[in-house]
Amino acid sequence: MTPEERIRLGNAWLKMGLGEHASVAAFSRFVLQLLGLGAPPDLIRDTIKAMDDEVQHARLCFGLASEFTGQAVGPGRMNLSNVLEQADDPQSILELAIIEGCFGETISAACAKVASERTEDINIRAVILRIAKDESRHADLSWRSVHWILKAYPELRSIARDAFIHSITHASPVTHASPVEEDEYDSFEKYGHLSLSSKQAITEQVLKQVIRPRMEEIFSSS
Ligand SMILES: [Fe+2]
Ligand SMILES: [Fe+2]
Repeated sequence: MTPEERIRLGNAWLKMGLGEHASVAAFSRFVLQLLGLGAPPDLIRDTIKAMDDEVQHARLCFGLASEFTGQAVGPGRMNLSNVLEQADDPQSILELAIIEGCFGETISAACAKVASERTEDINIRAVILRIAKDESRHADLSWRSVHWILKAYPELRSIARDAFIHSITHASPVTHASPVEEDEYDSFEKYGHLSLSSKQAITEQVLKQVIRPRMEEIFSSS
């Protein structure tokens, strides 16, 4: 790798670390939202565990960023207005859980799994494998949460259906676990960063094979 490529790769890991770090705030908010809705303890506990996972993901990504850029990197102050100013009525919480969780985490988990398979660097693979395993648990937590919210608030079923349909139409392959916007990382797949076209292909597949069936399962159960 040229020095320029190392910096570019390091910056990609830095960006990914910041995304993981932001997920800590998102899960903190979700714990409060679940408490507000009266959710059962297993959902609360698993969300707290997910916060801890995201702290670890951020640390691992910052570690790789430092390795490639040769500079110590880490998070700075965070603007929380986006986190704290969200509406906290059941409908808004449900819609966010569908978009960020059922879509975001499910697609992230699938992308991380494929990235781990394509990574040739053994240290990077270990990091991505850990992230992939955790993200798939987080995706599961989101589906369980949405399931519970709809049981507790059955009047929100048609809102949920609309949110799913809207997200299926607008699903983006760029998620917090793989935040590279431009298709400049084809040559970086062996270092853990998927190209945009890979992410698009994975997103299509996940929508068809995972998200649609799970969505139908939710609406077919009473
Ligand atoms: Fe994560
Ligand atoms: Fe996550």
